[in-house]
Amino acid sequence: MKIGICCDHAGVDYKNAIIEMLKGKGYEMVNFGTDTTDSMDYSDVAHPLASAVEAGEVELGIALCGTGNGMAMTLNHHKGIRAGLAWSKDIAALVKEHNNANVLVMPARFATLECCLEMVNTWLTTEFAGGRHQRRIEKIPVA
Ligand code: RB5
Repeated sequence: MKIGICCDHAGVDYKNAIIEMLKGKGYEMVNFGTDTTDSMDYSDVAHPLASAVEAGEVELGIALCGTGNGMAMTLNHHKGIRAGLAWSKDIAALVKEHNNANVLVMPARFATLECCLEMVNTWLTTEFAGGRHQRRIEKIPVA
């Protein structure tokens, strides 16, 4: 599976650790940056990641910024994106099981690296439940 990943300056170290972990598990990773801790604007990497998910160039996405909110707000402006913000293993599971998030967003300044790695693994291995949740996610887009 091919996964896209992006971060702003607050999430570079976590992003690199996630890339290393997932490459070790056999995932193909596409890095949308940023790759330095120089201050930058999260939207400059979130939009390219979202477009790649929408175009099917990557199957899923992962995004990190300080709080996760800037990334989530930007990503969710794209019609084909359901970006879910998670800050615990249980929320990472539910954001797939109930919301079928195709991008996982995490708050690098408010979650430990260990927690973020666990959230990524949980989100990737949890199945969408469908049923009533399918109906609910179909009602999200604005015409
Ligand atoms: C950067 O200082 C910070 O604003 C950003 O990482 C993020 O938290 C925005 O939502």
